Amino acid sequence: MSRILFVHHEGKTQEVEAAEGSSAMRAALTGGVSGIAADCGGEASCATCHVYVDTAWVDKVGEPGPDEDDMLEFTTCERKPNSRLSCQIRVDQDLDGLILNLPESQ
Ligand code: FES
Repeated sequence: MSRILFVHHEGKTQEVEAAEGSSAMRAALTGGVSGIAADCGGEASCATCHVYVDTAWVDKVGEPGPDEDDMLEFTTCERKPNSRLSCQIRVDQDLDGLILNLPESQ
């Protein structure tokens, strides 16, 4: 298990546990984190699981793949260099302590 800290737009934080191999999106939904809609269920086709990766974690999380990169053009809130779709962030031990910031809306 790894821990992920979600930081809401207004500053509230929620820490959840994430099983290795699952996605950050799945961990958020399982952990009751609001602010992740995940309408497509993790297929990288809805852009409603948008997060901003904390700048200290950007290198470890890595770059979006081509499909995710395309879909990030459709986020409700501004796309930034640290934008990712949380359904495409695979959790492993290296991401224990990951911090993800939630946009104002999805
Ligand atoms: S859940 Fe739809 S793009 Fe991530």
